Amino acid sequence: MVRVQVPATAANLGPGFDCLGMALQLYNTVEMARANAGLLIEVQGEGAADIARDESNIVYRAAMRVFKHTESVPQGLKIKLLNQIPVARGLGSSAAAIVGGLIAANILAGNKLSQKELLALATAMEGHPDNVAPALLGGIVVSVAVDGEIKYVKIPPPRGLKAVLAVPDFSVLTKTARDVLPQLVSLQDTVFNLGRLALLITAFHQGDLSLLPTAMEDRIHQPYRASLVPGMKKVLAAARLAGARGVCLSGAGPSLLAFADGNFELIARVMRDTFQQSGIRARTMVLNISPVGARALETV
Ligand code: HSE
Repeated sequence: MVRVQVPATAANLGPGFDCLGMALQLYNTVEMARANAGLLIEVQGEGAADIARDESNIVYRAAMRVFKHTESVPQGLKIKLLNQIPVARGLGSSAAAIVGGLIAANILAGNKLSQKELLALATAMEGHPDNVAPALLGGIVVSVAVDGEIKYVKIPPPRGLKAVLAVPDFSVLTKTARDVLPQLVSLQDTVFNLGRLALLITAFHQGDLSLLPTAMEDRIHQPYRASLVPGMKKVLAAARLAGARGVCLSGAGPSLLAFADGNFELIARVMRDTFQQSGIRARTMVLNISPVGARALETV
């Protein structure tokens, strides 16, 4: 039996649409073992009531990609999922499922695939690398797919920076959040995001948190997605007033993220209360950036 732990992730971080993401200290665990026949999937924790227990399960589908690729398809499989990551909330639950399935299966198959190959397979399943790359590698990661290969750079997280998250009690599918985006964006908005993304990556590198309010602004996805998250603009503004350094939609949403280096509980309370004013119930979490990505906890 293998046991693999995979972190939650927040993608985009404002301007870095589809190319920037970070791992958070909130984890899903995938246990996987070969069996003589059949497929048995057990799920505990987040999403337990809704997650598929059949061959459509994402962890299983990811695992089968590895088994087929390495010509080591088992006769049967047992999978146990212990989930801490809220599902369809913009915290990388599907990326964690994909990465967890790939890594667990790769260990069972004798580690035949390299990390680079696993990252390419994960990106092919997810459609973009910005969640799967930090889920696999940890930290803050810039990633780009080039002809099926993923080029990436890991950025050391600034000291003392935490993510305060407000997680609403409704879900938004990534597909829905992508369907509201325009096919084309203006040169002006592109230039707006380019400058901010360059500032943001440099700010992380230099630990200069004073740049974050400007560096996390975005014009190419968040304005369109605001319609899917009632109260989004008010919650983000309130978090800033309460002392957050920079704020954004987490991934495709609906969770909202505030970077802070203090006042964590105050910022969390203000975000929750402001959501409440728009009739949305939200839970809050204060999370460290996870320096480590997916890893095997033990192999029996
Ligand atoms: N970059 C992706 C998006 C992340 O914003 O749609 C969600 O999977």
